[in-house]
Amino acid sequence: MHLLRWISCLGLEQQISAAPTSSHQDYFLTDRPGRRQLIAVGTTLVPWVLLSHEKYASFAAENKKGFLPVTDKKDGYSFLYPFGWQEVVIEGQDKVFKDVIEPLENVSVTMLPTTKQDIRDLGSPQEVAETLIKKVLAPPSQKTKLVQATEHDADGKAYYTFEFIAQAPTYTRHALGTICIGNGKFYTLTTGANERRWGKMKDKLQTVVDSFQIVNL
Ligand SMILES: *[C@@H]1O[C@H](CO)[C@@H](O)[C@H](O)[C@H]1NC(C)=O
Repeated sequence: MHLLRWISCLGLEQQISAAPTSSHQDYFLTDRPGRRQLIAVGTTLVPWVLLSHEKYASFAAENKKGFLPVTDKKDGYSFLYPFGWQEVVIEGQDKVFKDVIEPLENVSVTMLPTTKQDIRDLGSPQEVAETLIKKVLAPPSQKTKLVQATEHDADGKAYYTFEFIAQAPTYTRHALGTICIGNGKFYTLTTGANERRWGKMKDKLQTVVDSFQIVNL
């Protein structure tokens, strides 16, 4: 991973070294009959029962045939992944699901702390996608090409979605990514396939990318 170069590019070193330690508290809004109140809870003993059900009912990714939803309530995001993919634990990535046979077919979510509020503060979809692909999503040895980058808004939040191709000596990877800023985090979801399987996989992978959404914690 070339995370460090991307971090310095975003000027995020300070936020990372100042990141809260285990003793910090998280704040959640809870709905009580008649009033809303802010409660503080320790991160290690998060009483999820206190969280309003309605809040996540509208937030959880909508079900779609051939896909399974995953919702991370602690980090505030959800997405759909293709039925049959298995969850694997990879250091430095918050969540990864992969096809057990095709190694390049997987989806992963990563988060970095940021003081920015909006992805648009970092530049245009093209600029941000180019930088992210070159500095983080592909090793420097690979030739990369940004195919397209677009912006869409959902619930008042801007998301950048992009498609790119990365050429390694023995294979070519065709990938999709989506990024968004919220909750003091820079979220990245990426998925892809070997170029030879792109035609077969692209609709499925597009569904995964389009399903990604974050919720204010
Ligand atoms: C996921 O796919 C990427 C390429 O798209 C690859 O570099 C990475 O090793 C894969 N991860 C896993 C866990 O298979």
